Parts: sequence; structure tokens; C-alpha cells
Amino acid sequence: MSCARLAAMASTLAIVVALSGCGGSAPKSDMPPLPASASAPVTYERDLHSWAQPQVARVKHVDLDLVADFVAKTLSGTATLDVTGQPGATEVVLDVRNLEIRSVADTGGDALPFLLGADDPIRGQALTVTVPAFAADTVQKIVVTYSTRPDAAALQWLTPAQTAGGRQPFLFSQGQAILTRTWVPTQDSPGIRQTWSARITVPEALTAVMSAEMLTPDGEDADEATHSYRFRMTNPVPPYLIALAVGDLAFAPVGEGVGVWTEPGRLEAARTEFSEMRQLVDAAEALYGPYGWGRYDLLILPPSFPFGGMENPRLTFATPTVIAGDKSLVSLVAHELAHSWSGNLVTNATWADFWLNEGFTTYFENRIMEAVYGRDRALMLQVLGWGELQDELAALPALDTRLHLDLEGRDPDDGLTSIAYEKGAAFLRTIERRVGRERFDAWMKGYFERNAFRPMNAAGFLVDIRAHLIGADDPALERELQLDTWVYQPGLPSNAVAPVSGALTAVDTAAEAFFADRGPASAIPWSGWSTQERQQFLAWRPDGRGTGRDWLSNPQLADLESTLNLRAEGNAEVLFGWLQIAVAHRYQPAVPTLERFLTSQGRRKFVLPLFTSLWAEGDWGRPLATRIYARARPGYHPVTTGSVDDVVGGPGLAASGS
Ligand code: BES
Ligand code: ZN
Repeated sequence: MSCARLAAMASTLAIVVALSGCGGSAPKSDMPPLPASASAPVTYERDLHSWAQPQVARVKHVDLDLVADFVAKTLSGTATLDVTGQPGATEVVLDVRNLEIRSVADTGGDALPFLLGADDPIRGQALTVTVPAFAADTVQKIVVTYSTRPDAAALQWLTPAQTAGGRQPFLFSQGQAILTRTWVPTQDSPGIRQTWSARITVPEALTAVMSAEMLTPDGEDADEATHSYRFRMTNPVPPYLIALAVGDLAFAPVGEGVGVWTEPGRLEAARTEFSEMRQLVDAAEALYGPYGWGRYDLLILPPSFPFGGMENPRLTFATPTVIAGDKSLVSLVAHELAHSWSGNLVTNATWADFWLNEGFTTYFENRIMEAVYGRDRALMLQVLGWGELQDELAALPALDTRLHLDLEGRDPDDGLTSIAYEKGAAFLRTIERRVGRERFDAWMKGYFERNAFRPMNAAGFLVDIRAHLIGADDPALERELQLDTWVYQPGLPSNAVAPVSGALTAVDTAAEAFFADRGPASAIPWSGWSTQERQQFLAWRPDGRGTGRDWLSNPQLADLESTLNLRAEGNAEVLFGWLQIAVAHRYQPAVPTLERFLTSQGRRKFVLPLFTSLWAEGDWGRPLATRIYARARPGYHPVTTGSVDDVVGGPGLAASGS
């Protein structure tokens, strides 16, 4: 059957079609290609968060030619899209949000009629372009001339003062989940993979890097006082993985095919912190097959980067708070690296199955950590994750504790909870434990091979695991695993097993003693503890987990703060743990430390819970939150302000606070 015919059949929801295999040439890269994967069925599923109609016409390639203007805070130029369509189709629907569309034309310069649809607060607008009728197996090019707006949600334009070096401005993008449409007009759905290329023109003093092969490492001269960088990504990727950063950037190799990019002043610290990156890549490949993207580099961003890390292909973006000075937070790199398989090769078809990206990655991350740093370290990380999972299960409405989510009418950000990560990973560990590691690993490796460069959803995952791991001849196994319960029901199924770490059990004992006021802080063996043990100590709560408060007296808090030297704590995870305790107790002496933390970095995982806890502390916390947020907000990325605005002061402050 022809691709067009298949596509035509797929116009209703959830018809199983090998859509993504249509019209696509085998992915090329500068590394050996991954094994072919023609056999796996792909379920086409409508993406609630995209206006695109890929069953009618789909973007196959995006070519960007953009100039970065740091004064106007805009990227402007063209996006040239290669589009295929059903024979006879005359409409191509793209996703845009907050873009200035100047014109739409064919490559001959003839205007193409277009219509901008109603602006949906979550999805943005449909940009519907009318084109000459598609013929079978032909590609049409659409040239969109446009400019981003200074408040594009994916982009943050930093002043020199907001960088480490303090002399040059900085720009970076964050596409996941549905923000790419605020700087690239394309079909912004994770199920619509596109190859891409770009030319980015920037001021002479700055360097542009992207999540792609860098074709011009030294840049090429362009108009007055600017130069251009060209890039190409020959593997088809979901658009949320198109990423750009521009700044005063330097590179240091760390090993063969791996290195770090960051501002020159941080380069040495970054190189040292991540000196084990090559081992991480080797371990990942030994587990689940060849790394398919060529180089693996890390970009350390300025402190306003809203996430810990972002798995942009070939170039993970990361927060500088991961540079702890003692390599204690490298599991974050293991995590983003693991996404090179789970997420970037096999991609959640829609954000309802975000757990397929993050749960697999959290599992895989832990296997990398075990391979490189040993079982004890890996178990500690599992236990910390399990604790987060318990907190989340207690805090969320039951329906949000399912792996496969219903996101109708919701922002995909709502699915960004520990459930996807930790319940997802616990699910895979449950299967691993029951079938044995050898069998499990063989399945997982095959899963990545069979489904490489394809979208995946919950139903497709269940088909794959039943076909390739469980089989039809072992009904006891099928019953015991409770696969459907894990995927579709709230909470934790009865076969979930809590991980146990001897080291962290000892920490719990020490925490219990201290928190029950059975000894001074000097009795805590803090200096002998790893970061993970310290995190566990600070996450301890008298009522199990959760957000207990008033269980420590002021003298105890003061003893803890001074004995553990928490005012000078340099590890962001440890500091965060302490500040959560301090805020829950309205412990005034920690406020300067809190204020410094909230104004010196903008990672949402730290910032949002702290403002939420402050806000929960009524008369004490709200004025503090309001005052600190007014200072901190101008430095945060739109991803972070978008969340914190909902907590602090409501829309009033949000409107006036920027
Ligand atoms: N892909 C995520 C970040 C993300 C998720 C961005 C959803 C936008 C929407 C990334 O891989 C991630 O999970 N980062 C974590 C760190 C990780 C070690 C758990 C983070 O940023 O905290
Ligand atoms: Zn992740």
C-alpha cells in the first residue's frame, strides 16, 4: 500500500499505521547507522497539543536562516520547510505561537496564501498555508519569513550581567515540551520527526552552538560585525529537540568524541567536573547499543537555565548548579545521555506518554550509574527517587498518578511530575526483577533498535513488550507483571518493590535520632557522608515523607545550620533540602541564604517548590515570597516565571513584574 493511501486511512484517531516510515530515507549520521527497524508497528495518535494534520501534509525538513539581534531581542529570517502531502491536498498546517509572520512564499518567491487561526493559550495558533495540490512522492518547499518576539517563551535573552563572564550577552532556547513553535514555525509535535539545518548569524564576539553537527566551527564572515554558523541534523528528530545557544562560549575536549562548552571562565571547572563523560557513554553503549548521534557534548548554561538538563541531541544543555566541585551530581549527565536512546531515538508520540521518555531514561540513567560508580551509589539514587515518588503520590490527585495521562485541555507541563520519572523507572525495575536482568536487557536493547526514529505510545509499548519479552506462552508472567495496571491505573501496583540502600537506612536512623531531639547536630556524621546521604537526611520527615513542619525547635534549627555550615553550602541539591526545612519552620535566620539561592539561579525544580512553600506560610512567607520574587523574576527564564507566576501574587504581579 502506498504511503499516501496509508496516510489517508489514518485520518481518524489511533489507527495503527506505519506512518513515520513513509517517505523517509534512512537516517544518516556521521556514525554507523542504527539497525533498520521496519518491523515495528507505529500507532498514529492525534496530538492534542499540535494543530498540525500530519495525515494530510507533514514537514520533513526545516532549514533555518536566522539573525540574532541582541538589541531587539529577536531572531529573524526564514524557515524553509520541505513538506510532503497526500495527493490532492492543498493545505499545510503549522504550529506557531507569538511569532511575527512577515510572509509565506514558495522558493520562487511567489506568495502563498496563509491564515493565522485563533490564539489558544496553550497551543498557540495554527498557521494554515495553501499550496498547489500535492502529487504523490513530491516535496514542496514553503518559505516562512518571520521574526520572534522579545518575550518568546522558548528563548531567554540574557544581559551581560546575567552571565558568568559579565561582558557579553547570551541567548538560549528551550523547546520541550511545546515551545519550539515560539521560535520556529513548524509542525511542533513529538510524533512528527524532521531533519533540519540552520545558518545562524550572530555578533562577531559570540559563538552559536546547536543540537546538531557544527559545519563551521570558526564561523563565516557575514554582514558588518557579524558572523554565521551553519549546522545540520541528518537524523530526523522531534522539533522539541531543535536547540540554540549563543554567547561567549569556549570548548574543551574531555575524551574521544566528548567535550564541554561553556563560558570561558567556567571551562576548567566544567572539564574537571565532567571528566568521566566518556565512561558514561561507554557504559550506555555497552548496555543498550551504539550511540547514534556522533559527538556527545555538554553545554553548561548561565544559572537561569530553567532545568537541570535538557537532552538536546549531540549537545546536552545543563544548569551550572550541576557543577558541585566533587562530581557528585553527574547522574544528571547520565540521565540526559540516556535520552539519546529513550526520548531522542524512541520518542513519546504525544505528551500523554511523557513517561516513555522519562521513565525509561530514569531507569537507564541508574543502570549507567551502577555500571560506572557501582551498585551502592545506584541504590542510593533509587531510594532518593523512591522518596520523591512517595511525596508525589501523596500530593497529586489520583488521576495524575497514572503513567499514561489524559491531557485534554491541559498544558503538557502538568505531566511533568515525578510520576513519569520515578513510577516509570519503578515499573521497569519491577519487570527487570521478575524476568531477570539478562532477558530484560535483551528486550530493552531490541526495543530501541526496533523503534528507533519512531514515535511510541503506551499501547505500542505494551504491544512491543508482549511480543518481544513476555510472549503468549507464559500467562503467569503476564498476570504477575500487571502491565496494564502500571500503565493505566493510579498509584502503585501491588508488585512494586521499594529499593533499599544500606547506607541510606543508616542515614534514616541518624535523622530519626536528631529529629526526635535525641542528640546534637554534632552527632550527625555529616562530613563522612556523600551528597546522596546528605540529601536523604534533609528529606527525612517525622511523618514518613510529605511536608511535615514544626518538628524541629529553633535551637535545633540553629544547631543544624551552624554545625553543618549550611549557610555556605555549595551543593545546590543539599542547599535546596535545607531551605525546604527552613521555610517549613519559618526559620528567619535562613532567609538571606534563601534569597541568595533564589536570586542566583533559576532552575524551576528548586525555585518553584521554594516559592510554593513560602506562599503556604501565609503571613510569614507571602511577603517574603513577593519581595524576593520581584527581585528574582527578571533573571528567570519564561519557563520558570510561567510556573512561579501562578503561585506568587497571582496574575497581578506577573503582569507588572517583568
Ligand atoms: N527532558 C527533561 C527536561 C524537561 C522535561 C524539559 C519536560 C521540559 C519539559 C530532562 O531530561 C530532565 O528530566 N531533566 C531533569 C534532570 C534529571 C536528572 C531528572 C531536570 O531538569 O531536573
Ligand atoms: Zn529527562
